[in-house]
Amino acid sequence: MSGRRRTVIAVAAAVILVAPLAFLWQRSLLPSSMSAMDMGYVDAGGGAAMPAGHHHQERSVSDLAGPRNRPPDFRIELVARKERFDVPGVGQVDGFTLNHRSPGPEIRVREGQLVQVTLVNESVPDGATLHWHGVDLPNAEDGVAGVTQDAVRVGQRFEYRFVAEHPGTYWYHSHQVSHEQVKGGLLGPLVILPRTAGAETDTVALLHSYDKHRTVSGRNGEQHVTAPAGRTVRVRVINTDAGPVRAWVSGASYRIQSVDGRDVHEPGELRDTATLVTAGGRVDLLLTVPSNGAARVGLGGGGVSLVVGPEGTTAPADADPGPTVDLLGYGTPAPLGFDPARASRSFRYDIGRRPAFVAGKPGLFWTINGHLFPDMPMFTVTEGDVVRMTIKNHSGQVHPMHLHGHHVLVLSRNGTAATGSPWWTDSLNVADGESYEVAFVADNPGIWMDHCHNLPHAAQGLVAHLMYTGVSTPYRVGEDHDNEPE
Ligand code: C2O
Ligand code: CU
Repeated sequence: MSGRRRTVIAVAAAVILVAPLAFLWQRSLLPSSMSAMDMGYVDAGGGAAMPAGHHHQERSVSDLAGPRNRPPDFRIELVARKERFDVPGVGQVDGFTLNHRSPGPEIRVREGQLVQVTLVNESVPDGATLHWHGVDLPNAEDGVAGVTQDAVRVGQRFEYRFVAEHPGTYWYHSHQVSHEQVKGGLLGPLVILPRTAGAETDTVALLHSYDKHRTVSGRNGEQHVTAPAGRTVRVRVINTDAGPVRAWVSGASYRIQSVDGRDVHEPGELRDTATLVTAGGRVDLLLTVPSNGAARVGLGGGGVSLVVGPEGTTAPADADPGPTVDLLGYGTPAPLGFDPARASRSFRYDIGRRPAFVAGKPGLFWTINGHLFPDMPMFTVTEGDVVRMTIKNHSGQVHPMHLHGHHVLVLSRNGTAATGSPWWTDSLNVADGESYEVAFVADNPGIWMDHCHNLPHAAQGLVAHLMYTGVSTPYRVGEDHDNEPE
């Protein structure tokens, strides 16, 4: 073969190899301006893709707001900054604060109160928002940059208003470049107390890792909750990290009073058993201080725990008991308020992974129903629909799945039906190889993210939306708008 001929063949071979890659790369580039409404393709789940009737009104996300016409019962201003701060037991870290602290101030309100939170961005260069994780509030207050609002730029402010409707444990965090800002500490706890509160001692245990150092409520190490023998104590565990955490109690039995802000019906007593707290999820543990010292609440080990008891008492050593309670069979059944068997839409949310280009970068990317970001399903519903969804994971990793604006009821896992208390959740730990069937009522119109709460996974494309027919958003994501919710 002549040298020239060889060169021609080599060049042709290179073109044949590179051209499809170049095509895939080109096709994967994200537009610099994109509406969440046009993201991906409509999946109507067997229902209508368009609103029914002629007199149907188009509504903008911005019209679906909390009450503006009366003074709030509770107000707070939260000033967001990018700064260096001290984490006790860890040292100085570079991250984000609210009112110079991370976690931000605990917001504690009562059921029925109108809450007003003003976010002021003093120095977060990428802009920031506040999302109220687990609170099923009006869509315009949901705090998703590029979907329900524009990110709040440096020097700007944004007012959130919502009625604290459902008592429970929640948290708030930025939903702009959230994989960085949440990791860096732009977050805080939110507690909604019932109208008539009990006589228990009530404490928040917010878990967060700063520079890979685990903390509970902003400090590393053991912490004390002072309470006399015989006192009932509620520990509100909030997992703000990217992976699941095991929680347990040594030296006393306990009950899981509530999961993701929804009470468990007739929770049974647990002993030598841990509870899995999903990333993004919350679990309220109820225990009684023993008569002979203190109890210890273990929070994943590694020296992060709570000692609950009278001043100066010691608690048993911290050791993971091994077994884990299965919420599928925990507690006893109670009325659901809807019939999951009468679903008007059925979706599947099937999570895989494959090599591809996304946003011009090669890598292993998450897929939903075989599709890559941003070509994801737009789960389309109409207000009043009963919706079923099967979430399947065969991607090799665990995914904490979080739907905004709604709680979903777990019906089954791997074909085994739920037999315990209704298990309502907003953050569901779906392990590799697992398949969950969930159901919910479409009762909160808007455009809602439905994504993995391991936020780097979301940034790698594990994001879809639930959209109500007839609702549109004026906001756009992409470079041109500096809105990047993931
Ligand atoms: Cu904790 Cu999309 O959020
Ligand atoms: Cu994930």
